[in-house]
Amino acid sequence: MGFSDNIVDEIKSRCNIVDVIGRQVSLKKTGSNHKGLCPFHNEKTPSFVVSEDKQFFTCFGCGAKGDVIEFTQRYHSLDFQAAIEKLAEEHGIELKHSGFGAEGKKTQLYEINREAAAFFYRRFTKEQNTAIAYMSSRGLEPGVMRKFGIGYADGEWQSLYDFLKEKGYDDEVLISLGLVSRSNNRIYDKFRDRVIFPIINTRGKVIGFGGRAIGDGTPKYLNSPESPVFQKKNNLYGLNLTRQDINREDCAILVEGYMDVISLYQHGVRNVSASLGTALTENQAAMLKRYTDNVVLAYDADEAGQAAAMRGMDILYGAGCKVKVLHIPDGKDPDEFIGKNGKDAFLELVKLAPSFMDYKLRRLRERIDLKTTEGSLAFLKEAARIMRKLSPVEAETYIKKIAAETGISEGAFRLEVFGSGYRDAPAEAARPTREERRHKDGGGFGTMLERNLIRLMLFKSSYVPLIEPYKDSFETAACYRIYEIIRSLYRPDEEIDLQKLADSLDEEAGTILRHTMETIQFADRDDQVFAECITHIKTAVRIRREEELIKILSILDDEKDSGKILEMTKELMEIQKERYKGTHNEL
Ligand code: CTP
Ligand code: MN
Repeated sequence: MGFSDNIVDEIKSRCNIVDVIGRQVSLKKTGSNHKGLCPFHNEKTPSFVVSEDKQFFTCFGCGAKGDVIEFTQRYHSLDFQAAIEKLAEEHGIELKHSGFGAEGKKTQLYEINREAAAFFYRRFTKEQNTAIAYMSSRGLEPGVMRKFGIGYADGEWQSLYDFLKEKGYDDEVLISLGLVSRSNNRIYDKFRDRVIFPIINTRGKVIGFGGRAIGDGTPKYLNSPESPVFQKKNNLYGLNLTRQDINREDCAILVEGYMDVISLYQHGVRNVSASLGTALTENQAAMLKRYTDNVVLAYDADEAGQAAAMRGMDILYGAGCKVKVLHIPDGKDPDEFIGKNGKDAFLELVKLAPSFMDYKLRRLRERIDLKTTEGSLAFLKEAARIMRKLSPVEAETYIKKIAAETGISEGAFRLEVFGSGYRDAPAEAARPTREERRHKDGGGFGTMLERNLIRLMLFKSSYVPLIEPYKDSFETAACYRIYEIIRSLYRPDEEIDLQKLADSLDEEAGTILRHTMETIQFADRDDQVFAECITHIKTAVRIRREEELIKILSILDDEKDSGKILEMTKELMEIQKERYKGTHNEL
């Protein structure tokens, strides 16, 4: 039998983590925190911090962290239930076993959502109302609206609440589903005066709602919050109705909004689904992939839509989908376009949609002026960055094509895409550029260099200003974030406050920080490590400049740019001389 959330909350609010841990670990107050030797790993200097405000412990040495229950579980090797019982007993809290566990609770949440959907639906269909008038004025047919379970939330403050209360549901549960809200001790409906779009998963459960203002109200859409039954990143709108069509057509058309799905569906384009205005996630891509490998992105023509499409493409490509990008003319969205031009015109757009690679390169060419050297160089760089995502064989096809179209040599593209093959520069085809690494989030702990630099600054804050001129060496996005925060916390003659740093970090950066603290120790070789880091950075800068020069030289026009060519060739020779000198005393 499980415990209700109330019991867990009560344990957490009645058992002060500082007292509970303080009984096992000798803690010293430092600022707003308490510090001691970590009970979960062997250490001589304290890196175990307990925050009274947050009721949370963190060990910067071994990465252990958690709340009072997690501490008790881990310290006494107990499972969740046993830890709760122990804490309850020690603090005189009476345990009332609740009637249902996590699964039973989910069943109830689905049931409440279904009741709510049915309530909205009855309001929508039973008598005349502004929602049905609005949707009809947008050209939707009753049959389709029924199919999607469209509903109406009236303008009253407690219509749904009264209805659900009558059925005996708990206020807290209704609040957790985002159906109602509490303010000044009064409970009121969240969805008022809106058209309701129930969001239904592929198992037919109502997991959440979108509510559209009737007319021009704000916000235009109000959506259910995340809840145990609704995780936005794991669902696609409409898939419950359209997955067979997607499977049959072996193609999914992915749109942004509720209205796009319903409108396309009504016009007979039924292999459609929506990511609901958020960036497409890997989980959503994996869901689509169950039904087809072919995805056509039909996002809005506005900048936001196109930017979302750009990100969506990479995610879909990464999931193994073949992606095309549909462009809707005149800045319309799919709903408007098909409303005005009909099904055949829309299908023609689908047919004309370029592959995502063609689309990206085309957009790049629109942005960059290829007539200047700077432009050609920028294009070369960007295009290569995009092509690096492809397999070498695919990339080769595009290199030929683009070289022919732009007049930039195939060799320059190859060099940029595959790397130069220098000893120091890893040459695998997928080597990301610096900019890319800095923007990319995900796995790993940063480079050894980055970790050493971070550790140095935390070892002695006097390294912070010394490292500043080399801050470009933080190439991993999360490491750069760590650097920026360290920089902002830096005060001369004070060490960096580790707890503050940790508090400001996201999960990924926090993981890197802990890993760094755990794995890198200098003893008293910090000066030496610093010197090695700087040598390393300088060498890397030289190599990059060298690659850059080779690239520019391959683009410049022999006759027109002869002066520049001479100058750059000289610089290149200097660098290469340095480099060969360097190889002798580097190791
Ligand atoms: N969206 C949202 N909240 C907003 C605006 C948009 O959640 N304030 C989501 C909705 O899922 C919406 C999608 O983003 O369907 C696309 O937004 P938008 O293009 O603005 O709306 P449309 O779907 O075109 O809706 P309509 O045609 O009714 O304006
Ligand atoms: Mn629209």
